[in-house]
Amino acid sequence: MKPSLDPFTVLMDLQTGALDPTVETVERRLSDMKGMYQVEPDGDDQVIYRVLLIPVPERNSEIQCSTTILEPGVVGDEYYMTKGHFHQVRDRSEVYIGLAGEGLLVMATEQGDHAVEPIQPGTVNYVPGGWAHRSVNTGTEPLVFFAAYVGDAGHDYGTIETRGFPVVVLRGASGPRVVPNPRYRR
Ligand SMILES: [Fe+2]
Repeated sequence: MKPSLDPFTVLMDLQTGALDPTVETVERRLSDMKGMYQVEPDGDDQVIYRVLLIPVPERNSEIQCSTTILEPGVVGDEYYMTKGHFHQVRDRSEVYIGLAGEGLLVMATEQGDHAVEPIQPGTVNYVPGGWAHRSVNTGTEPLVFFAAYVGDAGHDYGTIETRGFPVVVLRGASGPRVVPNPRYRR
């Protein structure tokens, strides 16, 4: 087999998640999160997270890599979070490496099972195939992590937009609380 890509190196800032070179950035604002929080956001339409991509061809012979920088904050009592998704190709897995800040990785199956794992500097989270995943910033600093996933995985945001996750993460008097999502549609 003749390889179709040449080897390359990207420099990653382990504190900020910045990539050099920065090739492609996806920005998500509060207005991109319509219907995802328990209450609708009001006020400034700020950027709540950015995904910096190391783009490679979207096929299962390659590994897509990215860093995510998720700002701290709340909508109502619900911490800032990513949209979350299943992979379009359901059985594709993903690995997260925590770089800075503190948060939670909320995962769910289509059958309604859920799991919540910590993200902090040095954590390696394994997201098996079939599990939707969303990160939540429960700290006061940006939550920064690196992710790598099978190249042809694709993103299915629609299922989460329609059904939500089984649990939500709320700010409580003594820290984050993981509680059932009253709007979850099985
Ligand atoms: Fe993913």
